[in-house]
Amino acid sequence: MNYQLCPSILSADFNHLGRQLTILEQEGVEWVHIDVMDGDFVPSISFGMPVIRSIRKESPLFFDVHLMVREPSRYIEEFVKCGADSITVHVEACEDPLATLKQIHAAGVRSGISIKPDTPVEVLEPLISESDLILVMTVEPGFGGQKYIPKCTGKITAVRDMLRKNGIEADIQVDGGIADDTLGIVMDAGANLLVAGSWVFGEDLQGKTKHALKKLHEKEDEIIAKG
Ligand code: DX5
Ligand code: ZN
Repeated sequence: MNYQLCPSILSADFNHLGRQLTILEQEGVEWVHIDVMDGDFVPSISFGMPVIRSIRKESPLFFDVHLMVREPSRYIEEFVKCGADSITVHVEACEDPLATLKQIHAAGVRSGISIKPDTPVEVLEPLISESDLILVMTVEPGFGGQKYIPKCTGKITAVRDMLRKNGIEADIQVDGGIADDTLGIVMDAGANLLVAGSWVFGEDLQGKTKHALKKLHEKEDEIIAKG
């Protein structure tokens, strides 16, 4: 299992974005989570192509782009051109989610499908064969710094069981409210890609990143030891 901390730049200080990405890289982070919001599928607006294009010039990190955008099929090729390595779309935002996942693969990057906290996991069943990543939102998408919604733990387990049953080895990502008190819970449930915004960004990015990575590796060792 490939465990990764995926710091979400939604909580970054955009005045020093490049410098912060360098700190993440120096600390051993491999993935960076990039939240694009359209003010329609979710209430807020974040940033889009020009920001991704700019940071791509300097950063070798894996760009994990989370599109909280209605009908994202309009923009897939453009995000790939800007430097996305993986694109995740919401099942609730797509007219034809399966076609959109195929479109992402055809554009040459990894595909992800996401569900909001109230969307049942069953909707994923016809989509997992075309998904490299399943993102189980653990808060309502739209804002950083929210509290983890406990009922989502069972959904992570259900997704893990669904993947096993179908013999599919996709990654399970969680996003929202991941911190000291929830990391172990979501990893025990089966998540291996851990998005973290407010847990790592803010004062002392370096120290907080070291701390988060240490916690993740300790838990990973514990899971491996248990078999
Ligand atoms: C929320 C975004 C998240 C957000 C997580 O809609 O998808 O990626 O940055 O922030 P935290 O980790 O602070 O809950
Ligand atoms: Zn996100």
